[in-house]
Amino acid sequence: MYRTQYCGELRSTHIGQRVMLAGWVHRRRDHGGLTFIDLRDRYGIVQIVTNPVGSPQAHQILDPVRLEWVIQVEGIVRPRLEGKENPNLSTGEIEVEVLEVKILNPAKPTPFSINGQDEADEQTRLRYRYLDLRRARMRNNLELRHKVVKFIRDYLSERDFLEIETPILFKSTPEGARDYLVPSRQHPGDFYALPQSPQQLKQLLMVAGTDRYFQIARCFRDEDQRGDRQPEFTQLDLEMSFVEREDIMKLTEDLFTELVAEVVPHKRLLASPWPRLTYQEALERFGKDNPDLRFGMELKDITDIVPGIGLKIFETVVTAGGYVRCINAQGLGDYSRKQIDELNEFVIGHGAKGLAYLAITSEGEQRSSFAKYISPENVEIIMARLEANPGDLLLFVADQPAVVNEALGFLRVSLADRLGLIDPDVLAFCWVIDFPFVIWNSEEQRWDPSHHLFTAPMPEDIPLVEIDPGKARGQQYDMVLNGHEVGGGSIRIYDRQLQEKVFELIGLDQETAHHRFGHMLEAFEYGTPPHGGIAPGIDRLCMILADEPNIREVIAFPKNQHARDVMADAPSPVDPYQLIDLHIKLDL
Ligand code: AMO
Repeated sequence: MYRTQYCGELRSTHIGQRVMLAGWVHRRRDHGGLTFIDLRDRYGIVQIVTNPVGSPQAHQILDPVRLEWVIQVEGIVRPRLEGKENPNLSTGEIEVEVLEVKILNPAKPTPFSINGQDEADEQTRLRYRYLDLRRARMRNNLELRHKVVKFIRDYLSERDFLEIETPILFKSTPEGARDYLVPSRQHPGDFYALPQSPQQLKQLLMVAGTDRYFQIARCFRDEDQRGDRQPEFTQLDLEMSFVEREDIMKLTEDLFTELVAEVVPHKRLLASPWPRLTYQEALERFGKDNPDLRFGMELKDITDIVPGIGLKIFETVVTAGGYVRCINAQGLGDYSRKQIDELNEFVIGHGAKGLAYLAITSEGEQRSSFAKYISPENVEIIMARLEANPGDLLLFVADQPAVVNEALGFLRVSLADRLGLIDPDVLAFCWVIDFPFVIWNSEEQRWDPSHHLFTAPMPEDIPLVEIDPGKARGQQYDMVLNGHEVGGGSIRIYDRQLQEKVFELIGLDQETAHHRFGHMLEAFEYGTPPHGGIAPGIDRLCMILADEPNIREVIAFPKNQHARDVMADAPSPVDPYQLIDLHIKLDL
């Protein structure tokens, strides 16, 4: 037997008991001839004390013991001396007087401290991830993630959902990224693809009559890394039969509203029911289809007044079909020229040509990049439209709509940070709906699905799919939280003809379509129920619930930003014999 109790579980009720504990040396102090050790396990920390007079042998064994050694101790729980209690520790009223000690495993000095607040650089943390995970922050994140997944499993199981595993070795699934391929030894020259999501399989489960499916599913996408992307990540993948958009949205909304109340009770929802925005509205008001609703500062359009105010730079853009939009950064009217230049650099970094500004200091004095080119009356017109007051900083971007939205959408978020407008304990969920069904890909000169190939158009827009595809809307819904897309789903096509029409629209010729998706088309001919689903990303969700800046912090063993596992050193070369088995020759 190694232990009778966990370190973190001892309280004054245990006083007088003989206990056996095992764990890591978290801190060590030698003081007045006594040795004090904070002993740590997953459940907490307890202070243990040895006395050279009372138990000389134990004291001697502990002598060489240093931080992170693994030891086993046996001793008596006793109250701490008066005034020595530690209110910050759940075990802070007691300590364990050690009678016996055993060293289970010594430890080298660790490359970063486990007990300190100081952050090691991320490469080192990832290289020694097993040490990083010993730290309280990471342990809390793993616990939170477990609670999230458990809540989801329980919630859906109580509602007749079946959790079903789908294959990892599968065929290319179209979610818009590159596939990770796995060569087949038994079928030389053929490859499996790791699923970008179980999309096709969950639809086939609906054809199979499963009715309500979910899976905590691992997905694989070879795409450029960002803070909220990993090459392999986890979705709550979910699909239901005989449902409409509302059914999926309601289930998801109820699930996550209850999950938040249970798992992160200190957080509050900004609004319930969750606000809904159309794709168009999200772009117009926030510049993004994943808007952060925790703060205002919405984008304002002045395109319509531009033709009358005589400002050439704006007029040229509007004549070419562009927009002029503005953000009013209330409270930044006294920003210096240098600070405004920084904002200018920021929007240039996001694709705009530059930022025009009109600052009104708290004394009411105006400074502007363009006022000298137009009459004071016209400046007044702009200010009136934007309801500008002393202390305001009006920031304008004039360009094609996509450029304006991108630049101001990011600027808005960055300004909210500078202005401290974000309450970290608020969760602003919202739905974005009515996405365009397809988006024009000017490089490839073809339509791309705005979600994926299997999303159904809005029933009333089906005729548009053939005559004016750019105007058709899809039955897609995105679940957005605090400015991140945390989930996406749709009602699916379940009719072979319509599915073939969509393949054709996006430029898949019949042969390729049959080669890649013949099994789906075939299945649709054997009695397919209307169905739809959604896939919230577990990593992104946990990142936000844990107040972490990126998803690596909520994944036990993530890849770094270059898609490498720096702990195990993967990817790495393989034995040449393995390649021979696979009929692969490298051409580097
Ligand atoms: P979609 O591609 O929108 O939809 O993905 C759903 C959610 O998965 C998460 N996600 C990611 N998380 C971390 N790293 C990544 N590289 C990554 N890519 C996506 C996001 C995203 O919202 N099969 C469809 C779902 C459906 O239609 O039911 C799908 O996968 O949170």
